[in-house]
Amino acid sequence: MCGIIGVVQRKGLVAPFLYQALKRLEYRGYDSVGVTTIANGKLYTKKDKGKIEEVHKRLNLDDLPGSIGIGHTRWATHGIPSMYNAHPHFDCSGKIAVVHNGVIDNFLELRRELAGRGHRFNSDTDTEVIPHLIEEYMEEGLNIVEAVRQVTKRIRGTYAIVAMTAQEPEKIVCTRDGNPLVIGQGDGAAYVSSDIPAFLPATNNMILLLDGEIATLTPDGIRIENLSTGEVLTRDPIKISWTADQAQKGGYPHFMLKEIHEQPEAIRNTLRIRQEVLDAAAEIISKSDRLFLTAMGTSGHAALAGRFMFASIAGILPIFEIASDFPDTVGDVLQPSDCVVAITQSGETSDTIFAVKHARERGAKVLALTNVVGSSITRAADRTIITQAGPEIGVAATKTFMVQLTALALLSIALGRRMEARQASFFDAKSEALQRMPDIVSETIVRNEEVARRVAERYHDRGSFLFLGRGISIATALEGALKLKEISYNHAEGYSAGESKHGPIALIEPGFPVVFIAPRDNTRDRLMGNIMEMRARGASIISVIERNDKELASLSDDVFEVPQNVDAEFSTMPFVVPLQLLSYYMATKRGYDPDKPRNLAKSVTVL
Ligand code: F6R
Repeated sequence: MCGIIGVVQRKGLVAPFLYQALKRLEYRGYDSVGVTTIANGKLYTKKDKGKIEEVHKRLNLDDLPGSIGIGHTRWATHGIPSMYNAHPHFDCSGKIAVVHNGVIDNFLELRRELAGRGHRFNSDTDTEVIPHLIEEYMEEGLNIVEAVRQVTKRIRGTYAIVAMTAQEPEKIVCTRDGNPLVIGQGDGAAYVSSDIPAFLPATNNMILLLDGEIATLTPDGIRIENLSTGEVLTRDPIKISWTADQAQKGGYPHFMLKEIHEQPEAIRNTLRIRQEVLDAAAEIISKSDRLFLTAMGTSGHAALAGRFMFASIAGILPIFEIASDFPDTVGDVLQPSDCVVAITQSGETSDTIFAVKHARERGAKVLALTNVVGSSITRAADRTIITQAGPEIGVAATKTFMVQLTALALLSIALGRRMEARQASFFDAKSEALQRMPDIVSETIVRNEEVARRVAERYHDRGSFLFLGRGISIATALEGALKLKEISYNHAEGYSAGESKHGPIALIEPGFPVVFIAPRDNTRDRLMGNIMEMRARGASIISVIERNDKELASLSDDVFEVPQNVDAEFSTMPFVVPLQLLSYYMATKRGYDPDKPRNLAKSVTVL
C-alpha cells in the first residue's frame, strides 16, 4: 500500500496542498515521501526517507514552484526505504515523473531490457521502469497519454500510476489496474489520489476511476477513456458527505474494523509473493537439520499455526519457542546446521531481534517473515520474506496475522514440493485451496459481522472467557483470547480443549462463556466431547463452526459460521475472523477505543 496524490490547478502554488494531502494519506505508508512539481518547463523535486513530518522539517516540502504536481508516501515493497527509492521516479532526461502504488511483476525483465538500450536507473524499485518506458514511447512521437497507454501493455502486475512531463506541463495522466485511484473535480482544479481524504478539503465531488481506464487531468477538466479502445467515458461526480477523518478510515469507525475488512485483499496480495523468494527460503530450510520458529504475541500464534502447516504439508515438525525466551531455552542446543524462522509484522520487536541475534551468534541460518521492508529484522536475517498487508494502524494485529498465515502456508507448500514430501498433485490441491482463501475470508466477514455485534451485546459484561480448540485451532483459540483481552479488557484464556479438563474446567459455573473453535477436521469429534463436558457444567457455549454443522450448532448457545470444506491446514484463516469481529464489538460495546488499547504499543521495542 502507498499513498498517491496528483493536483492540477489553474493558479496558485500546489506544493503546500500536496504536503497536506500526503499527511492525510500517511496511513497508507510512511517510510519515505516525495513531491515533484512543474514550473517554467522544468521538474522540481523533494524526496527523502522518513515520515512526512520529519522530511518536511528537513526539506520544507511546501517550498516548490508551480501549480501542477504529484506526490507519494511510500510503503516499501521493492527496495529498502531510502531517498533513492522514494517516489517520484524519473526517466533519463529527468523530464518525466511517475508515482506508483502496486507491484510490477515483470520489472526485472523490463529493467534488463531498458538497461540494455542504455537507460540509467537510480533506484531498486519496480516503479522506475515506468518513466523509462514512457520516455521511449514519447521519443517515438507519442504524447504522454498515448505513451502511458502503451506502457500498460508492457507491464504486468497491479498498479495505480500517476505521470506527468515537463514537455506537456498542463496535465497529469493516471491509470489503474488493481490498485485504487479516485479523482476529485474542483473549480479550476482537478485531483487524483489513492483515497478521498487526500483532496477532501478542496472538493467533495469524487469520480471513481476503474481498472482499465485512463484519465487526463487539466485545470479545464477531466477526460476519462477506456484504456484499450480509447472510447471517451462520461461519469457524473459523486458527492461525498464524510469528514476527512471518516474518509481516512474508509467510512469505518475504526482502523481495526477497516483492517479486518481489508484481509481478503491482503491475502490476495501476499499470494503474489514471488516463487523464487519462497523457493530460496525452502532451500535453506531443506538443507538444515532442524527448523525453529520464533515470534511474539499474535505473530507467535501465526508461528503455532505454521508449525501445524509445516508438519501436515511438508512433513517437518518445527520447534517453536517464544522469542523472549528463545536464547534462554534454546541456548547452546542451536547449531550452525539449524534454521530459525523469525516472524514479526513490524520487524522491530526487540524480543524477536534478540532471538535472531542469538541464532546468528550460534551460526544458525535465519529467515525473517515481516510486513515492513527495511525494518531491523531484515538487516539481522539471512533472508526475508515480505508479507503484503500494507500498513496496519490499529494496534491489535488482524490483517498482518492473516498475511503471516498466508506466507507460512506458501512456504510450507514450497518446502513440501522441494522435499518431495508427497505427490505433486497434493501440493497443487493445497495451492488451489489457498487461492480460494480471499473469497472464503470475505464471505466469513460478511456472514459474521452482525452475529458478532449480537454476541458482544449479550456477553460483553461476563468478565472472563475461555477459548478452546484442538490441533491447529489451539493457535486460533490463543489468538481469539489475546484479541479479546487486549482490546476489550475482558479476561480471556486460550487453551487446548484437551487440556481444559485438567484444570480450567474448575472455573466453569452456569453462564461462564466458552468459545469453541470447531472446524470439520479430524479433531471435531473429540472437541464435541469437550463441548458436552462444558455444557454439563452450565457453560454458555459460543462455537465457530462450518456452515451446516447442525450437530455442533445444536450444542451451542451462539454460533459463528464459516464456509464449508476449508482445508484443515488453513482453517485458522477464516476461523479467526469471527473472533476478531467479536473482540472489536466487545471493545466498542464496553466503550473502549479498539485502535489504541491501553498500555500497548504497535511495536514493542523493549526487552
Ligand atoms: C497483538 C499484537 C502483539 C504483536 C506482538 C509482536 O494484537 O499486535 O501481540 O503481535 O507485539 O509484534 P510483531 O509482529 O511486530 O513482532
